[in-house]
Amino acid sequence: MNKKIIIGNWKMNPSSVTDAEKLFKSIKKSLVKGVDTVVCAPFPYLQSLKKIGVTQNFALGAENVHFEKEGAFTGEVSTSMLSSVGVKYCIVGHSERRAQGETDEMVAKKVLALNKIKIIPIICVGEKERDHSGFYLNTVKEQVVASLSLIPKASFKNVIVAYEPVWAIGSSALRAATPAECHEMIIFIRKCISDISNQATAHSTRIIYGGSASVEDAGAFLNFGMADGFLLGRASLNAKSFGEIIKIASINISK
Ligand code: PGA
Repeated sequence: MNKKIIIGNWKMNPSSVTDAEKLFKSIKKSLVKGVDTVVCAPFPYLQSLKKIGVTQNFALGAENVHFEKEGAFTGEVSTSMLSSVGVKYCIVGHSERRAQGETDEMVAKKVLALNKIKIIPIICVGEKERDHSGFYLNTVKEQVVASLSLIPKASFKNVIVAYEPVWAIGSSALRAATPAECHEMIIFIRKCISDISNQATAHSTRIIYGGSASVEDAGAFLNFGMADGFLLGRASLNAKSFGEIIKIASINISK
């Protein structure tokens, strides 16, 4: 069984560094040994959050990165910049970035650049909608295979794949996926990884769920859904919910 990981994606929240520090401190009180916790925060907050204190089990993540090392890329941030402020994880391919033009090819380059500097990529994959013929499986397969295409197979265990069906994300979501839908996709994603590496590698890659995940359904996603953890949007902006989900993950590992 892979170690559980609960990742918060704060997106473009909260609105000030003071509020960010407050939220980070509250989340820090809920940490549980045996569960990795990560907060992916907006760039301007990273350095202040690091000063509050990070540990092996409580790490900082970024929400985006550029794949080039340096140069004339106005508004972009490089892997070494992230590393220099203590970032250990970075989201790539989030559907909100794909909607702004991030392609599978860019995701692959970002995964390569992050892998080189030992920042763990959190690779978001997921279909926009489900069709009865199952073509959505091809979409997810293409995203998984493309995003891993530039790194060595030995590095697959150092990435996290987040299954985030686009229809389940955010306040306009239809609904969260069901634990059964999550289970099916986690098996499918593992098979995709196994096909391009081997079974042992596929088993050691952490695959998590994201999209309207909440305190109410967290246990079911971890048990029946077979998720190795969560990428939480809205639930990560509420320290109480975030903390409860961390606790649920810890109960789940001791079973
Ligand atoms: P949500 O966001 O939990 O608010 O649906 C998840 C995400 O976008 O990563």
